[in-house]
Amino acid sequence: MKKREEIIKMTDITKVYDSSDVETVALRDIDLVVEKGDFLAITGRSGSGKSTLMHIIGLLDNPTSGKYILNGTDVSKFNEDEQAFQRNREIGFVFQSFNLLPKLNAVENVILPAIYAGIGKKERVEKAVELLTELGLEDHLNKRPNQMSGGQQQRVAIARALMNTPELILADEPTGNLDTKSGDDVMNTLKALNKDGKTIVLITHEHDIALQAKKILHLEDGKLISK
Ligand SMILES: Nc1ncnc2c1ncn2[C@@H]1O[C@H](COP(=O)(O)OP(=O)(O)OP(=O)(O)O)[C@@H](O)[C@H]1O
Ligand SMILES: [Mg+2]
Repeated sequence: MKKREEIIKMTDITKVYDSSDVETVALRDIDLVVEKGDFLAITGRSGSGKSTLMHIIGLLDNPTSGKYILNGTDVSKFNEDEQAFQRNREIGFVFQSFNLLPKLNAVENVILPAIYAGIGKKERVEKAVELLTELGLEDHLNKRPNQMSGGQQQRVAIARALMNTPELILADEPTGNLDTKSGDDVMNTLKALNKDGKTIVLITHEHDIALQAKKILHLEDGKLISK
C-alpha cells in the first residue's frame, strides 16, 4: 500500500488577537492533519475562525502558540521572509474576491507568482498560457478582470494559484461571489485538480459545497470538530 504522507500537521495551535482593550481567542487547541491528496472542507459560522485558520495554514499569519509542520518543515516560528519564501513555493491561494490586479490582463495576473519565484519571462508566459488554456480561458488571455465574468476571473485566480506548481491549494470561500453555475465550474476545477494529485483545503459556510470534498471538519468558536 502507498504510504500516506502528511502535508499539514498542526498540534495545539491557538490564535489570540490582542487589540488594545479586547482579547479574542480565534483558535483553540487545533490539532489538524491533512494528508497529501486529501480534499478537506472546513465549515463553520461567521466568526468561528475559518479565515484565521486558513491564514495560519497559508503562512500569512503566525499562531500564538502550537506547532505547525508544513510538508516536513517546522514553520511554527518562521519570520515574514521565511514565510513568504515557503508560501510562494508550496501554496496556491484562491480567495472569495479573486484578488486579481485590475490593470493586468489574465496572462499578466497568472505570471505574478513566477516573477517572485525568479522564473524567466518566456517560460512563465508559456506556462501561464498553458494553464489558462487548460482552464478553458484561451479566448480571454488578454482581457483584464473587469472584462471577464466572475467565474472566468476565479478560474484566472486558480491558474495563478497553480503557477508555481504547489502541492497545496487553499481556497477561502472560492464560490462565495459566484452564481450557481460558475460556482459548479469552480468546484469541478478543484475536483479535477485533486484527482491530479493536488491537496485541497477549502473553506466554506455552504453545506452543498462542503459535501463535494472528501472530508469535512467543522469549526465552532475556534475549536475544530469532526462531524
Ligand atoms: N485582525 C483581527 N483582530 C482582532 N480580531 C480578529 C481579527 N481577525 C479576526 N478576528 C476575530 O477572530 C474571530 C475569527 O475570525 P475569522 O475571520 O477567522 O472568522 P471566519 O470564520 O472566517 O468568519 P466569516 O465566515 O465571517 O469570514 C472573530 O471573532 C473575529 O472577530
Ligand atoms: Mg472568513
